[in-house]
Amino acid sequence: MNIIWHEQSKQYHLYNEKISYIMCVTPVGEIGGIYFGKRIHDKDDMSYVINRFGLPNVTLDPDTESYSMELNRQEYPSFGTTDFGTQAYEVELPNGSGVSAFVYRDHKIYKGKPGIKGLPATYANDDEAMTLEITLADELAKMTLTLFYTIFKDYPVIARHAQFRNEGSSGVKLIRALSACVDLPDQDYEWMQFSGAWARERIPEVKKLSTGSVSIESKRGASSANQNPFVIVKRPNTDDFSGEAFGFSFVYSGNFIAQAECDSFGRLRILMGIHPDRFTWLLKGGDSFETPEVVMAVTDCGLNDLSRTYHELYNDHLVRGKWKNTPRPILINNWEATFMDFDEERILAIAKTAKEAGVELFVLDDGWFGERNDDYAGLGDWIENPAKLPQGMAGLSSKINALGMKFGFWIEPEMVNPDSNLFRRHPEWVLSIPGRKSSLGRHQLVLDFSREEVVDHIYNMLKKVIGGAEISYIKWDMNRSLTEVFSAELNADEQGMVYHKYVLGVYSLYERLTQEFPDILFESCSSGGNRYDAGMLYYAPQAWCSDNTDAIDRIRIQYGTSYGYPISSIGAHVSAVPNQQTGRSVPIATRANVAFFGTFGYELDLNKISAEELEQVREQIRFMKEHRALLQFGTFIRLRSPFEKDQAAWIVVSKDRKEAIFALYCMRSNVNMLPGHLKLAGLDPEQVYVMDDAEYYGDELMNLGVTLTKLSQSGLTTGMDYVSYVKVLKAR
Ligand code: GLA
Repeated sequence: MNIIWHEQSKQYHLYNEKISYIMCVTPVGEIGGIYFGKRIHDKDDMSYVINRFGLPNVTLDPDTESYSMELNRQEYPSFGTTDFGTQAYEVELPNGSGVSAFVYRDHKIYKGKPGIKGLPATYANDDEAMTLEITLADELAKMTLTLFYTIFKDYPVIARHAQFRNEGSSGVKLIRALSACVDLPDQDYEWMQFSGAWARERIPEVKKLSTGSVSIESKRGASSANQNPFVIVKRPNTDDFSGEAFGFSFVYSGNFIAQAECDSFGRLRILMGIHPDRFTWLLKGGDSFETPEVVMAVTDCGLNDLSRTYHELYNDHLVRGKWKNTPRPILINNWEATFMDFDEERILAIAKTAKEAGVELFVLDDGWFGERNDDYAGLGDWIENPAKLPQGMAGLSSKINALGMKFGFWIEPEMVNPDSNLFRRHPEWVLSIPGRKSSLGRHQLVLDFSREEVVDHIYNMLKKVIGGAEISYIKWDMNRSLTEVFSAELNADEQGMVYHKYVLGVYSLYERLTQEFPDILFESCSSGGNRYDAGMLYYAPQAWCSDNTDAIDRIRIQYGTSYGYPISSIGAHVSAVPNQQTGRSVPIATRANVAFFGTFGYELDLNKISAEELEQVREQIRFMKEHRALLQFGTFIRLRSPFEKDQAAWIVVSKDRKEAIFALYCMRSNVNMLPGHLKLAGLDPEQVYVMDDAEYYGDELMNLGVTLTKLSQSGLTTGMDYVSYVKVLKAR
């Protein structure tokens, strides 16, 4: 790993063993792109890449009369001079103009990686990464712009963000400040996004790029289930196993945009950052603004390889604290078992049976506080309801701990019901516009987390209940989108700061709680997977993946999620049948076989299942305890897509390739078909593996494959709806 500055040619080369990222100071002093991809040799000068000829009807820089931004690759382009593509940023000066001219001033190259104040970001020590900071200045605007680039030693990854500083004395307005822009030299790419809605999150969609723009976005205040802030740009023939691709992952949990733009000259521009709609950041003299981080990864070996990069990078350099790379406790959550209709006795009855079956952690979900008996009331009143918990959280937690189980509970700190003591006392603490009605989502309003006093108040309430009991886990929910975004505390010209300040408020509460309670495992949630993003992983190493707990739907959801996020982050539970969301009845074996590839737990009353099923549950828990380190932290490889066939399959392989577990799911049986073979991947070709007492070579399993009749004990594929197989391979 190194970052080289070629003084003569004014070029930077960031490289490690896998990749090169090459940039230059352009003839107009801005930063231009030269190359991003597989590692190539370093050279003093690659200026031949820069176009210095005009094309008809192209505008040129007046000083050089030969350089147009539009005909060259830009790293952080502005609009209004010679580039007509989508700009990375826009500054409005007091005279109303929106044209900038940031030119190179200096740079710093150093070991390690700086943090970003108030924001989540990947981290690395001095041996693990190097950083380049390029500072540009706009003399007229009296502003500087610093572009940060970090290259990691062991990953094909560049992490980047930008910082604006107002060095003058009059205020300026940042009306767009994206985090990253990459221009590629051709347009023969496909765009892959992860889209959906509540209960069908992160479903991959692929489209061919052509002239014009494709973009995804969230303007909901959270990253959203509708579009995930992770996209892939790949060659048309790239699949999970081969081909070139770039990944762009936004380490942020609020409004965002990700865009690909094919211009008329063959350039492809990819942009990612905070959504510019309703974003205006006021920079008074001396103020600065830092954007969130984008993590860009590249592969020439297919999408499984790209995913592995994100899985490992996020496990090693984003997740923090005690639970980093630590297998997760097997939990039981009472939500689908009781909803809000519970008392201590009912909870203890579920906990007892769960404990006997081997479950390690009990999670008390929504309904324990205030007047919360349905979703019309109580949010904001984080005080135990004595009718349900007579001795409070302290009493219940000590009873559960006495059973030999850990205990945790659910909170939704950002919200308030109009029917709550908090709202009655502080109606001005919600996001709302004076004189306008406030939209409701699940009968609740959103607290104004851009205000410090609001965050302080919630922090103090939560600290009291968490600190007063024996708590090992917190599930942090967020169940509606932001609307009527306006803060009573801010001036008219500061209202464009509220969306981002809100996210900063959420992060600051997360930071304070995780620092105050460093041993607690946090799981983020937002009506399931509405805020499943890299930003959250910095505070909460796991996320409730979806409110849809139907195993067949979950195969798709977890498959899609695996493209950008580690398996250890995927909250996955076995729930009751018929399923609450789909009405489908899937055997308990298959429900567990899906949830094994996640954090694993149960979301049902184990007293209500048959003795035979309870025995299966015991066995599932035993299996998970034996294999969870491998299942959650092994190399995960997608084998067969649930979007193409009626079957899906994946495998996890240990780092030393001595152990692996694969799963095959039959989502729908096919009549009168040969069962075929499932080719495994990621194994050591020379190694002999034992599976079900038989021996196979690694190359045999990866090329000939596992014969499916061998799994099903029958040549037939009929009657295989919802049947699944999980098999362990061990090196002989
Ligand atoms: C959301 C969550 C669920 C559950 C409920 C409680 O929908 O996604 O898991 O916690 O809230 O109200």
